[in-house]
Formats: sequence, C-alpha cells, structure tokens
Amino acid sequence: MTNLSVNLNKVALLRNTRNFGRPSVIEAAATCIKAGAQGITVHPRPDQRHIKPADVDALSQILSVEFNIEGYPSLEFLDIIRKIKPTQCTLVPDAPDAFTSDHGWDLAVDGAWLKPIIQELKDLGIRVSLFMDADLSQIQRAKEIGSDRIELYTEPYATAFRNGNVESVFQQYHTAAEKAQEIGLGVNAGHDLNLHNLEKFCSIPGILEVSIGHALIADALDIGLFTAVKEYLQILTK
Ligand code: PXP
Repeated sequence: MTNLSVNLNKVALLRNTRNFGRPSVIEAAATCIKAGAQGITVHPRPDQRHIKPADVDALSQILSVEFNIEGYPSLEFLDIIRKIKPTQCTLVPDAPDAFTSDHGWDLAVDGAWLKPIIQELKDLGIRVSLFMDADLSQIQRAKEIGSDRIELYTEPYATAFRNGNVESVFQQYHTAAEKAQEIGLGVNAGHDLNLHNLEKFCSIPGILEVSIGHALIADALDIGLFTAVKEYLQILTK
C-alpha cells in the first residue's frame, strides 16, 4: 500500500489572493485527515507565494499524521525545519524563483554540501528524502550521502502518460525504484500524479508515499476535498 500525502500549496495560493484567511489551510488539512490521508505536505518557498512560515507553524500544532516539508535547503528553510522537526524533509533543488519543481538533484555537483545537512536533519530525528530523477547513478549517490528515501520526480512519467507513449518511461521509473530499494532507499514519488495516471505508477512495487497537490485540489473544485482525497485513497489501496 502507498500512503497519500496531500500537498496544500494550492489552498494557500488561493487563500493569499484575499486577506481574511479563506480557504483555510488548517481546515483543508483537517478535511484531508478526516478523509484518511496519511500525510500533509507543504513547500514553503522564499517568495511565500503560497505556504508561509506561519502556516507551517500552525500545521505542526494540529497534525496527527505525517508532516512532510519540502524545499530548497536555504538557511531560512533549514531554520524552519530545525524548529518544526517534521516527520520528513524532502530536499528539492529549486532555484528561489522556480515556477514549480522541475528536476531532481545533480548529486555529482551538490552531493558534497548536502551530505552534512542530511546528517544534521537525521540527527534531529527527521527522515530525509531527496527529490530525484529516474537516474540510476544519481540514485546511488543519494544512498552514499546518507539519504533515507528518494522522491522520484514524476512529471516526465505524467507527460508520457498524457501523450499515450508511457511504456518506456514507465520502465525507467520501475528500474529506478527497484534499484533504490535494492540499495536500501525508501521510494516516494510526486509531481503531476492524478486520478488517471496514479494506478499505473503505483503498480511499481514498494512505492511508500505519493505527494499530490495540483491535480487533487483541482479535482476538489469539482467533487469536494473530502471526496477527492477518498478517490485517491481508493486507487492507492487497490
Ligand atoms: N513533490 C515536489 C518536490 C513538489 O515540488 C511538488 C509540487 O509542489 C509535488 C511533489 C506535488 O506536485 P503536484 O502539485 O503536481 O501534485
């Protein structure tokens, strides 16, 4: 079975276009948890365009499920992580002005400075995951620098699925997930997963967690947040 961590960035993005707190990130988290989601994910970005540090604080006080905080390990981001000590921290190689995360780490370049950060977070009792492409040599490096898990960046899979030519890309992800598990890394996945492409992706054995935001919140506009979470969970428990 694969756990669902609902990414609430888009709820915060909508909330930020008015100044009276609606829709509420906290209420949305409570609804997701009531519907059975096993986790909540947020991605506080330097420009605070969606999740703000105050949201991270408030969520940390009410969450009864896994809290996954993702982001680029800047000084400000690491201060939030040290203070909140979430269950999991997913490190992402985003430039400060990134539109959305669009690639995994190149650990040949960034592995050396990430290694002590990973160790520090692990010493604080935080599980560390690295956002990675389906690239076997990079995945090997993730293990070597001490990561507990990787999160496979699934946008290329989602695009191939949408274009009807998913098989070879799917095989790459299958092989990458297998390799990661062989060397002792847990495997998460995320980006552009949705009600159509999720079941096939999660047919890869051992995917521990998917983090889903955009599509799930878009579905919630049609069917409500509670029902949307239930529909994703139904796929994940098949
Ligand atoms: N994982 C990471 C590292 C992300 O940056 C995002 C988007 O914030 C997601 C997963 C979720 O992607 P989506 O919103 O497309 O479901």
